[in-house]
Amino acid sequence: MTPPSPDLSDHDSTLAPPPGCPAHARRAAGGSTRLYGPEYEADPMRVFEQLRAKHGAVAPVLLTGDLPGWLVLGYREILEVLRTPGRFSHDSRIWNELKQGRVPQDSPVLPVIAWRPDCLSADGEEHRRLRDAINESMGRFDRRGIRRYVTRFTHQLIDAFAADGQAELVTQFAQQLPMIVLTQMLGMPEEYGPRIVEAATELVKGSEKAVASHQYIMEVLRELVARKHTAPGPDLASWLIDHPAKLSDEEVVNHLWLVLIAANENTTSLMASTLRMVLTDQRFRASLTGGHMTLPDAVEQVLWDEPPTTVVPARWATCDTKLAGRSIQAGDMLVLGVAGGNVDSAVRPDLNTPMHGNRSHLAFGGGPHECPGRDVARAIADTAVDALLMRLPDIQLSVLESELLWRSSTWTRHLVALPVQFAPRRVDPVPAARRPRDTAARPAPQSAPAEAAGSTQSPPVHAGGPRRSWWQSVKRRLLRR
Ligand code: HEM
Repeated sequence: MTPPSPDLSDHDSTLAPPPGCPAHARRAAGGSTRLYGPEYEADPMRVFEQLRAKHGAVAPVLLTGDLPGWLVLGYREILEVLRTPGRFSHDSRIWNELKQGRVPQDSPVLPVIAWRPDCLSADGEEHRRLRDAINESMGRFDRRGIRRYVTRFTHQLIDAFAADGQAELVTQFAQQLPMIVLTQMLGMPEEYGPRIVEAATELVKGSEKAVASHQYIMEVLRELVARKHTAPGPDLASWLIDHPAKLSDEEVVNHLWLVLIAANENTTSLMASTLRMVLTDQRFRASLTGGHMTLPDAVEQVLWDEPPTTVVPARWATCDTKLAGRSIQAGDMLVLGVAGGNVDSAVRPDLNTPMHGNRSHLAFGGGPHECPGRDVARAIADTAVDALLMRLPDIQLSVLESELLWRSSTWTRHLVALPVQFAPRRVDPVPAARRPRDTAARPAPQSAPAEAAGSTQSPPVHAGGPRRSWWQSVKRRLLRR
């Protein structure tokens, strides 16, 4: 990779921390800043603004293990990278660090950027083949049907805590709903839902259970695909298998994995941030109740101000090229600081101006890989938050806003918990219309994956008698917390 220009500004004394300052640990030799570690994780946006002030739209950075890359922070430059796949490929196999053997096999960067047989890793014609399969299969869902699912499961989740007068909305609400909806879309047996939520959480946290969790999810998806060959249904797995693009089983499994993981984590984060904004920003809530702002407007504002993925990984230069005046060499890695791009003064001179109705933020990427699930994510977030506010209009944060904790990584920044209180409500028995669909007609899994996600408990599979519903399992888990 091209070293940053060795000019003295890289060691500018006004920016350089005094000896002993922890910020030293963040800045490595050559002026590159680490996009990991406590300094960065405490406040990624501050680091982005320091980098922008020092380097402009493209800054030299180091990822975990001090692997070099370029962080793109300019709104226009991010779009330039996203829209020119001929110059900036999504195929990590051309990464010069990888080719020269400088990326350790156990690098935590690899699971995020490693090549997989899915549309995210592909360019050009191959990308179009895979993307058509995803677009056309997702297009077969009835949008109102998805909103109906979301509404039904939202009410069931609220029913689980409405009588308590208090709840923790990240674990009891935002982390549950997207996965419930996604497992329905994918055509997964409902029994697996709670275990998948748990495994996906461990995977994204990068905990010691991450590898086992990944294996568990892949195993469940392989079983699912095998079953859908013989018993197809109106779901994403069956439609991908059936698509004229003729995806191999491995490609179908990898696309289901991509949808499950990318969608769940991001949509959970979007819901949590929207809830936080509604609960903490009085003007925001007043605008909503006064009808000056709709919930979809509020969701869009969050996508501008707190995009669930702060840094989108990654692209690799296919040739020596220039970006914002920087020389980028073939094989260099670029990561896209969309949270920084969204507040670039070139497009938002005044950050206090509301972005009502403006969807041109970078939260869903852009160009050929732009998120195909954006409307599903929006439907989940705005339907769920709207229903929660309707059911519990007196809902309030039960801690100070300053006490809220965040968890950050190189790529994301998420709320850890959102404790709330409200007047307890009597919960009527679940009306038939809101109950999860009857599972009796669904095929039982061939075998229950054991030892998944570090646990010895198998998903409940009741071969003969009535099977426990997805919802009962979720509720049991919530009550155990
Ligand atoms: C708030 C929620 C979501 C956010 C912020 C989000 C964000 C993104 C971003 C930034 C990309 C582009 C990555 C890149 O260019 O490297 C992407 C791609 C993708 N997303 Fe989402 N996503 C969300 C929800 C979903 C949902 C609900 C689904 C599916 C149901 C989904 C499926 C995908 C897929 C399949 C891709 C790969 C597309 C391709 O490579 O052509 N996402 N997402």
